Amino acid sequence: MQNGHLLELRQVTKRFGGVTAVNRCSLELAPGRIYGLIGPNGSGKTTLFNCITGLEPHDDGEIRYKGERIDGLRAHEVARRGIGRTFQIIRVFPELTALENLLVVTWGPFDEAHRRAQELLRFVTLDRLQNEYAGNLSYGQQKLLEFARILMTDPELILLDEPAAGVNRTLLNELLEAIRNLRAQGKTVFIVEHDMKVIMDLSERIFVLNYGEKIAEGPPGLIQSDERVIEAYFGR
Ligand SMILES: Nc1ncnc2c1ncn2[C@@H]1O[C@H](COP(=O)(O)OP(=O)(O)OP(=O)(O)O)[C@@H](O)[C@H]1O
Ligand SMILES: [Mg+2]
Repeated sequence: MQNGHLLELRQVTKRFGGVTAVNRCSLELAPGRIYGLIGPNGSGKTTLFNCITGLEPHDDGEIRYKGERIDGLRAHEVARRGIGRTFQIIRVFPELTALENLLVVTWGPFDEAHRRAQELLRFVTLDRLQNEYAGNLSYGQQKLLEFARILMTDPELILLDEPAAGVNRTLLNELLEAIRNLRAQGKTVFIVEHDMKVIMDLSERIFVLNYGEKIAEGPPGLIQSDERVIEAYFGR
């Protein structure tokens, strides 16, 4: 790893026709920390995650993971390098069981995958529901299931797009604990979230986007009182 950064973005830009969704965005993530990404609706958060994970080709700039360029790689190649992500809109297979939802993403020996899947279902407190169809789980449980699924491949960097949205308080606490646990295991977590309490409690450092541009970055305490951030949220 060069200069200690796990992920490094340099002047990343993504346009959709006339809209510049991400505008010359630069940021760095160090390993083993929890980072937040906030900004008003449409400020480019999901698009930035899509650029990092190879779902949307960016137009300009550089993305490095462990010192190596990953921009230009396909999504499955980025995943194989060790970056996992959840989606703002849930993507579980409703007609498969909770357990099967985890097994479909693995490529190793079955016994090992089965053991890991059960361990992960316990980790997100869904072990009792392992044989239930994912479509019968509550919205919050489906989000936990999706979260468990990205952990099947043991990613080092985990991108979560609004993990708390629509999740009830009890499940939310399970989720927050699971995220803190990942950090304790040395993983790096990058979270988009509109729930300010969640993001301020979890993140060690926060980046703020507005109209695709990074307008601020710093520890939660500083971000909360940053004039540009307050203006971006309340000034329109
Ligand atoms: N596939 C697309 N085609 C055209 N425009 C898009 C596309 N995806 C995103 N955009 C535009 O890019 C901008 C950034 O959108 P994005 O979804 O990244 O914002 P966001 O910060 O994730 O918003 P939210 O908080 O509502 O999830 C918006 O103006 C959006 O309309
Ligand atoms: Mg989004």
